[in-house]
Amino acid sequence: MAPFWVGTGWKMNHTRADAAAYAATLRASPLPRAPGLQLFVCPPFTALATVADGLGDCPVKVAAQNIHWAAAGAHTGEISAAMVADCGATMAELGHSERRHDIGETDEEIGRKVRAALDAGLIALLCVGETRLERRAGAAIEATVRQLKLGLGDVAADELKRCLVAYEPVWAIGEGGVPCSPADAASVHAALRAAMAEKAGAVGVVPPVLYGGSVNLENCRALAAEPEIDGLFVGRAAWQAEGLLAVAEAALEVRRQRTA
Ligand code: 13P
Repeated sequence: MAPFWVGTGWKMNHTRADAAAYAATLRASPLPRAPGLQLFVCPPFTALATVADGLGDCPVKVAAQNIHWAAAGAHTGEISAAMVADCGATMAELGHSERRHDIGETDEEIGRKVRAALDAGLIALLCVGETRLERRAGAAIEATVRQLKLGLGDVAADELKRCLVAYEPVWAIGEGGVPCSPADAASVHAALRAAMAEKAGAVGVVPPVLYGGSVNLENCRALAAEPEIDGLFVGRAAWQAEGLLAVAEAALEVRRQRTA
């Protein structure tokens, strides 16, 4: 059975000392080894190695929050896929809403980053999500499927098995965000899955689709109960390790009941 994914993006939070404590808490818990669950953490670049080293053989995947598309060269301030892999990352989160909207990353750039992640042997976690205006205009599916197709534009069918997709509606993320209902998330997830099934054809595997945006301990059970949702991508509620573990435990319990 495919695992249920539960991960967190720390965004611009946590020193190396915080990161070491976080990793130690995960390592001390039996939950990361629970069958049917795959945890991941996306620390800032400065804490990647601390988290990866602190986790040791604890099977929590470590992801960078971004990479540059080039393998190396004159790109001041940027960090390559090989560099994050060298720090212990095995995944790269790409196209998060805050990078699209605060930094101005384009679908074309995100597609190049997905390519660079795969070329370096990383799992690419592509984030997509519509704005409030797009949702109000009835264009949520159109907008997210467009982002998906451009983000995965340079990915071959047999590489989809090294991809994950996170549906993170912009209006649902962060302070003041309104969590998406499980039913609304499910309809977008189904559309994303259908677009990927088309791409996968006979040879490819359709990547898991995670939901992110104001996930917390209160709403995670209802989201995890929705069969279209293959995982949860948590921000604020998992910035402490206890928060990630609590959401993961609750979600796993619901998934186990569903498949029992
Ligand atoms: P919040 O859970 O804080 O809304 O953040 C979600 C997110 O951006 C995960 O990538």
